[in-house]
Amino acid sequence: MKIIELKNISKVFNVKSEEIKALDCVNMEITQGEVVTVMGPSGAGKSTLLHLIGLMDKPSTGELYIDGEPISSLTEPELSALRNGFVGFVFQFHHLLPEFDAIENIAIPALIKGRPKKETYEKAMQLLKEVNLENRKNHFPSQLSGGEQQRVSIARCLINDPKLVLADEPTGNLDHESGTAVMDLMNRFVKEKNISLILVTHNPALEKYSNRTIRLSEGKITP
Ligand SMILES: Nc1ncnc2c1ncn2[C@@H]1O[C@H](COP(=O)(O)OP(=O)(O)O)[C@@H](O)[C@H]1O
Ligand SMILES: [Mg+2]
Repeated sequence: MKIIELKNISKVFNVKSEEIKALDCVNMEITQGEVVTVMGPSGAGKSTLLHLIGLMDKPSTGELYIDGEPISSLTEPELSALRNGFVGFVFQFHHLLPEFDAIENIAIPALIKGRPKKETYEKAMQLLKEVNLENRKNHFPSQLSGGEQQRVSIARCLINDPKLVLADEPTGNLDHESGTAVMDLMNRFVKEKNISLILVTHNPALEKYSNRTIRLSEGKITP
């Protein structure tokens, strides 16, 4: 079953009088439970691709389908519901909120969605255990190592039971050992929960976690 389909997607940014074609007629499909690595040089359009699929930005031309629905037919409330439920994000830099502790950071996306507080904190605690950080429950991001921050980010991205996780160089800022721990965890979750994962990386060693690799160059998919 296809959960994501891109048809002839292009994205143009206008900077001063210049047009930058970040994505140039991209076609791709992702099926439920599939893990896909996206590789390519800096500036190839990888982050732009994730932003479009994550509904954080809109294509200039072409159509994006989610679960068979063209997103151009969705209203802004429908889009924001998808953004905060269907899809989870893990970034290179954790993007945790500095003034909240680990468990609060994990709970916040569910509280924003209006989930009950008690149930949400129970689930956040369960996720914290699953990423082996129950003893860091009340630590603030600044009190955690880079690898621990990234494991909190993974727990946070799972709180709303996404069907798709988008990870933009999630190990790019970590040493080899923490990076491996983060990837092993992410890999376990996507398998257990049948989540699709799109993993942007510069590191060819991460290809082993994926079913296939998409290569981008100057906004185009290359063989
Ligand atoms: N918000 C933006 N405004 C203008 N240009 C952008 C913007 N985002 C990305 N670009 C440009 O689009 C191209 C692709 O960028 P990006 O998707 O970030 O590449 P990658 O993640 O592969 O390094 C680059 O030339 C970049 O400078
Ligand atoms: Mg990028």
